[in-house]
Amino acid sequence: MLKLGVLISGRGSNLEALIKAAEDKDYPARVACVVADIDAAGLEHARKAGIPAVIVPRREFKDRQSFEMAVDKEMRKHGVELVCLAGFMRILTPWFVEQWLDRLINIHPSLLPSFTGLDTHKRAIEAGVKFSGCTVHFVRAGLDSGPIIIQAAVPVLPEDSEEALAARVLIEEHKIYPAAVKLIAEGRVNIHEERVFIAGASAPESIINPAYF
Ligand code: GAR
Repeated sequence: MLKLGVLISGRGSNLEALIKAAEDKDYPARVACVVADIDAAGLEHARKAGIPAVIVPRREFKDRQSFEMAVDKEMRKHGVELVCLAGFMRILTPWFVEQWLDRLINIHPSLLPSFTGLDTHKRAIEAGVKFSGCTVHFVRAGLDSGPIIIQAAVPVLPEDSEEALAARVLIEEHKIYPAAVKLIAEGRVNIHEERVFIAGASAPESIINPAYF
């Protein structure tokens, strides 16, 4: 069983998806602890499931590294093997990234490398892209950068609001985050020259948007 440490800042729906996936006895990972940098609503999902959940309040630390050292300590205390950022809205320093190199993953609501940062759905709509989606990737020091493990695409529809697109993407986030963790736990994820190769993965069919036939 791969032990996960999940870092959150908000509602925690991706955390909830990981907790749910781990309810299956055959799922190869378990959430060992949850850390939030603020009093996040999502902590409730952990508490309900009896998972240790703490706030490491960023504001009470003098700088980023001392905050991250406290987070790191919490992870180690619970024997965490893979750190999962799930709506964690802090940029981590190279120090933390180095501590957890190739054992630190993030979910981002766009098809990276497009639309890093905030307001991804608004910017995707404004750019007129026909697909958006979400990405799970290993974390490197740059913003929303690092080897891509898995992505899901959804169509962007002409009448989409930011909220409508976000909701469509979120459904896929809840599928691909547990899927990425499962692949890592099964030892099928290999990084070669900063690209991810998944052992035994099959090729999906192509998707075309708009449909014209
Ligand atoms: C998710 O959409 C996640 O992809 C995004 O924040 C949301 C958190 O939702 N993360 C980022 O934008 C990180 N750059 P959740 O708290 O319900 O999981």
